[in-house]
Amino acid sequence: VAGKVTEFKPNTGAVLKFGNKPALLVRTSDGQFKAFSAVCTHLDCTVQFKKDAGIIWCACHNGQYDLNGRNIAGPPPRPLDEYRVIVQAEEVLISKKV
Ligand code: FES
Repeated sequence: VAGKVTEFKPNTGAVLKFGNKPALLVRTSDGQFKAFSAVCTHLDCTVQFKKDAGIIWCACHNGQYDLNGRNIAGPPPRPLDEYRVIVQAEEVLISKKV
């Protein structure tokens, strides 16, 4: 459980604990939820949501991903793993894709 829907405003991102690795939960400007592994596919730094640019950004080497987790600029060699997000009874749940 990541938290209540109301805790996440549109156009924000939060890094959360997910098992033993961080996950990034993004709420897009149109209110959709997306979740990814927050571990950069380059050298494992933790990525973050960059509000002004609307991208997922890795501060270590300026790696960039779009909101589908696809690597679009910088050194990351592949997309972020995407997780499944379910909204149930006002709570946001994240799980691994099966
Ligand atoms: Fe993320 Fe290098 S570790 S860009």
